[in-house]
Amino acid sequence: MRSTSNLALLALAAGAHAQLNKLAVAAGKKYFGSATDNSELTDTSYTAVLSDADEFGQITPGNTQKWYYTEPEQGTFTYTEGDVIVDFAQNNSQIMRCHNLVWYNQLPAWISSDSWTNDTLTEAMTTHITNEVTHYTTDAGECYAWDVVNEALSDSSGYRDNIFYETIGEYYIPIAFAAAAAADPAAKLYYNDYSIEFTGTKLTEALAIVDLIQGAGVQIDGVGLQGHFIVGEVGSASALAAVLEQFTAKGVEVAYTEVDVRHASLPPTDAEIEQQAVDYAAVVSACLSVSDCVGITVWDFDDKYSWIPSTFSGAGEACLYDENLSKKPAWTSVSSVLAAAGTGGVASATASQTSVASVAASQTGAASVAVVSQTSAASVAVAASSAAAVAASPSASSASSVAAALTSSSPAVLASSAASVCVKKTKTVYVTASA
Ligand SMILES: *[C@@H]1O[C@H](CO)[C@@H](O)[C@H](O)[C@H]1NC(C)=O
Ligand SMILES: *[C@@H]1O[C@H](CO)[C@@H](O)[C@H](O)[C@H]1NC(C)=O
Ligand SMILES: *[C@@H]1O[C@H](CO)[C@@H](O)[C@H](O)[C@H]1NC(C)=O
Repeated sequence: MRSTSNLALLALAAGAHAQLNKLAVAAGKKYFGSATDNSELTDTSYTAVLSDADEFGQITPGNTQKWYYTEPEQGTFTYTEGDVIVDFAQNNSQIMRCHNLVWYNQLPAWISSDSWTNDTLTEAMTTHITNEVTHYTTDAGECYAWDVVNEALSDSSGYRDNIFYETIGEYYIPIAFAAAAAADPAAKLYYNDYSIEFTGTKLTEALAIVDLIQGAGVQIDGVGLQGHFIVGEVGSASALAAVLEQFTAKGVEVAYTEVDVRHASLPPTDAEIEQQAVDYAAVVSACLSVSDCVGITVWDFDDKYSWIPSTFSGAGEACLYDENLSKKPAWTSVSSVLAAAGTGGVASATASQTSVASVAASQTGAASVAVVSQTSAASVAVAASSAAAVAASPSASSASSVAAALTSSSPAVLASSAASVCVKKTKTVYVTASA
């Protein structure tokens, strides 16, 4: 039996520990990452979180590798701002998804306003790609992957009517991938778009883009599903996974590249905050269930720097951390799903932990149960049921009453979760289990 003070100390250490990337890697993924932007890097409380590779193992620059920044005048290349993000990632042993090479938006004026022929625009586009991909190489650890073409599809149907499509035709897409592959054969080359996370016209067209590139005999390694979701409209993990598998069946990897789950109106109700946690968990579970889904990137991790309020009027609070950098219930559900997947894939342990969490939440007002680390599926299951028993106790309103409840549990249960700790802390039950 353990003393109350030991329990409280262990619980504090567990709650303070950052770990989304560490848990994702333990679950077999390549990374859990975040987008960022140059102006945010002067905020030291923000960078204290972002620089922790246990929390975020991958960085995407929100803006400063885009064409507008990197080739403001034709033939004049400036990588100063993009280099700052790459330096930040390298300083912290984080990998980079580099973003992006060809997009209809944030283009310099010389591209948008010039009059082009097929040949001159093809030449300008391939020169841009070659120069930028040569600047940030995979061998130097500067770019794990590139979003080569971003958002080529329109919101209704067909290709987006941009200058590349108008001038070159759909072959601008394989031409762009071929230029990127020639400049850095080791980089993972991605097509990236939104509203392709669900069945529909745009998904069918994105699948056809993979066919187009492969049919031209050109390298494409992955498809990025941006994942800008709305609370309550995410649906099940299995439906999301079925979409991912339509891409991986073509021999490409997939990633959720820009995830946020926005409340359509503010402030959210408690039920909507819980729904957001469920929705984030579905997205992460979908990626976990598909072996060629390599990782998940959030489109910034905190509400303070989210792009949502300025883009979708009235919407917001879409991120894992709030505007004051406090973790939200969505963070807890994501860490819980990642941790459960890291146990060696015993489905019954995952299922029982999930149902235990919802029982605990409904009986006590606890937001959720987070399993923050574990060494075996069995110890997770035991710790989760201990947590549920404690959380369900009407007297479980403080660390000391939780500890008392634990010591009155069956010795067999406690013995088999030798270092398991459960504390009801604020509105979240944290569980640490190890053999
Ligand atoms: C990376 O580390 C170097 C050396 O400590 C430092 O000078 C530089 O400012 C860091 N860059 C960023 C973006 O944090
Ligand atoms: C542009 O040239 C490429 C060959 O370089 C060709 O495949 C494509 O059809 C041409 N586009 C148009 C609109 O003529
Ligand atoms: C963030 O902190 C400010 C100042 O204390 C407070 O007014 C605001 O409500 C906090 N935001 C959240 C989401 O808790």
